[in-house]
Amino acid sequence: MPAALGVVTAALKTATGILGFKLWFLPTLLATLAYYNYDLFDPESRVASVKALRAEYDFVVVGGGSAGSVLAHRLSEVPDWSVLLLEAGGDEPEIADVPILSLYLHKSRLDWGYRTQPQPSACQAMEDQRCAWTRGKVLGGSSVLNTMLYIRGNRRDFDQWASLGNPGWGYEDVLPYFKKSQDQRNPYLARSGRYHGTGGLLTVQDAPWVSPLGPAFIQAGVEMGYDHVDVNGENQTGFAFFQYTMRRGSRCSTAKAFLRPARLRRNLDVALLSHVTKVLIDPATRRAYGVELVRDRRKHTVLARKEVILSAGTINTPQLLMLSGVGPAAHLREVGIPVVQDSPGVGQNLMDHIAAGGVAFLVDPPVSLVVDRVMNLNTALKYAYEGSGPLTSSVGIEVVAFVKTKYANASDDWPDMEFMMCASSTTSDAKQVRRAHGLTQQFYDDVFGNITGREVFGIFPMILRPKSRGYLKLRSKDPMEYPLIYPNYLTHPDDVAVMREGVKTALAVGETTAMRRFGTRFHRAKLPNCRHLPDFTDEYWECFVRQYTLTIYHMSGSAKMGPAGDPRAVVDPELRVHGVQGLRVVDASIMPAITSGNINAPVIMIAEKGADMVKAAWLSPRRAATS
Ligand SMILES: Cc1cc2nc3c(=O)[nH]c(=O)nc-3n(C[C@H](O)[C@H](O)[C@H](O)COP(=O)(O)OP(=O)(O)OC[C@H]3O[C@@H](n4cnc5c(N)ncnc54)[C@H](O)[C@@H]3O)c2cc1C
Ligand SMILES: *[C@@H]1O[C@H](CO)[C@@H](O)[C@H](O)[C@H]1NC(C)=O
Ligand SMILES: *[C@@H]1O[C@H](CO)[C@@H](O)[C@H](O)[C@H]1NC(C)=O
Ligand SMILES: *[C@@H]1O[C@H](CO)[C@@H](O)[C@H](O)[C@H]1NC(C)=O
Repeated sequence: MPAALGVVTAALKTATGILGFKLWFLPTLLATLAYYNYDLFDPESRVASVKALRAEYDFVVVGGGSAGSVLAHRLSEVPDWSVLLLEAGGDEPEIADVPILSLYLHKSRLDWGYRTQPQPSACQAMEDQRCAWTRGKVLGGSSVLNTMLYIRGNRRDFDQWASLGNPGWGYEDVLPYFKKSQDQRNPYLARSGRYHGTGGLLTVQDAPWVSPLGPAFIQAGVEMGYDHVDVNGENQTGFAFFQYTMRRGSRCSTAKAFLRPARLRRNLDVALLSHVTKVLIDPATRRAYGVELVRDRRKHTVLARKEVILSAGTINTPQLLMLSGVGPAAHLREVGIPVVQDSPGVGQNLMDHIAAGGVAFLVDPPVSLVVDRVMNLNTALKYAYEGSGPLTSSVGIEVVAFVKTKYANASDDWPDMEFMMCASSTTSDAKQVRRAHGLTQQFYDDVFGNITGREVFGIFPMILRPKSRGYLKLRSKDPMEYPLIYPNYLTHPDDVAVMREGVKTALAVGETTAMRRFGTRFHRAKLPNCRHLPDFTDEYWECFVRQYTLTIYHMSGSAKMGPAGDPRAVVDPELRVHGVQGLRVVDASIMPAITSGNINAPVIMIAEKGADMVKAAWLSPRRAATS
């Protein structure tokens, strides 16, 4: 089969090129994939990048990530509308489909490779005290690099959005949009029609493979008095196996879910490797009428008859707004950009979820996911043929727990901590994890050097509603220069306290009978910067959380939604930029408050709802309802 052979060779070239190294395992895996699953490689099912841009479209969507892919699909459902989707990155490579390999995509050419400014309060174990902010630069955006955890957040998060002056965003309003996208493959969950949808474009499934530690985590939770719940259902507090945006054991990115099925629509153009540098806004009428972009090293202008929609993500959306003259006036003047609309909130209210890295436990039996051990011909066959086996594991992340520290309201179902419980830890694929997280070699060696490759499990305790806020601003008016990012993690004392208590609760999991059966003991190595503090006191844990401060990559809020009366609100509840016509923002940056959970599902929901708002604005009521 020469065609298939060609595809394999091409895939191999991309894989080794992207990952920047030659692993004997990849050729085996790709050859097996091509043999059993030829359709994955079928070039016809891929989204083709349009060759020549038209001068004008009805809608120009900037950024083909989690949100942009959904918008492009939904807007191009209207046959008389022409839609252009502009994406700075290229197409998703086959290798990104394999769940266990996601860490290899960090710092590859699929990653923008942002780093924050040095942090005095956090990320002390990282190179230059700068946190590594991985962001997808590829069709599908960060949904191509993420760990596929499907979590909707808490009912109260959305009710809070509504109470901040955003009617239509309460839990009961947004629930239909979560369900609209979803194809829940777990028949028991699907049966609850109240909370889960079937037949949608986004496949959500359980892990095809879990280690023996998975069920033990759930038992540990029950022992600690927590229920085994559907965390995307009625109550969030409790323990559960994660649900994943996977299809037959492979990643189901938003590009795969939403763009591939729309690829033959004549009214949708997708332009890859197209970097937008500016939104064109008429300074007199303050109406957005197009964008400027760089493609093939040439500058292009495309006009938008109806709207420009920014879905470039939490970093690039505020960057583009500022480059286009929409932002804090004093800052724009400082970098020499003419002010079109003074919008002090652009780049502010920057939120993220962080977890304490380094909570690792040693166990005796060979139950954990040591990456070198699970990559072999046998597991490659199982992956390619059955969509199962350890290669479908999302780097060992198996169980989620939503727990309450003593600072949460005990009588309310609004937990303040999420645990990601893993049959792996930093030491399971030491080189890749260290690199992805940006840890210094010195820190790694001091803390983990003597347990590399050993049997371990890890718990990543993540604070759900941090009070610290960061911001970002332009370094200069050059659109290709990365903005300056100041996350300000752990600058609010309450966040430090919640994190400290979260770590203590994570340690308690290791003390349960369910976990002790594996001979569990906490890896007690003291962190270098905290050695002066007495063992495992509150002061020690407060120091601990500032060292290996791990972003969970949920940057959000930098162009927040709110009513006109809120001076920091950048977009209104219909996601239209305050003070500018014909311009919306639809992505993670509109979150007024970060949701209590991993945020990809909420971003997809925002895009589903945003698309309906655009339809409602431009179509007659009857047509909006049927398209
Ligand atoms: C490593 C990692 C792991 C994660 N794990 C999970 C998880 O397990 N579960 C979960 O729920 N969430 C997870 N997340 C978070 C989640 O994936 C993101 O929050 C979500 O994808 C953000 O969607 P978005 O549409 O706002 O931005 P993105 O998906 O990042 O999309 C923005 C797109 O715009 C493009 N773009 C940017 N600037 C320009 C420009 N100037 N011109 C043209 N195009 C541009 C980018 O290339 C990108 O494709 C993870 C994220 C990362 C990075
Ligand atoms: C949710 O919690 C309430 C109150 O604790 C309880 O009555 C109900 O049975 C729970 N629902 C589910 C599905 O667990
Ligand atoms: C705690 O939650 C309960 C139940 O929702 C609520 O009635 C109560 O007001 C909350 N207490 C505080 C201090 O917020
Ligand atoms: C690893 O080294 C630390 C000291 O840095 C020590 O406390 C720990 O017991 C050692 N662990 C193992 C498994 O050797």
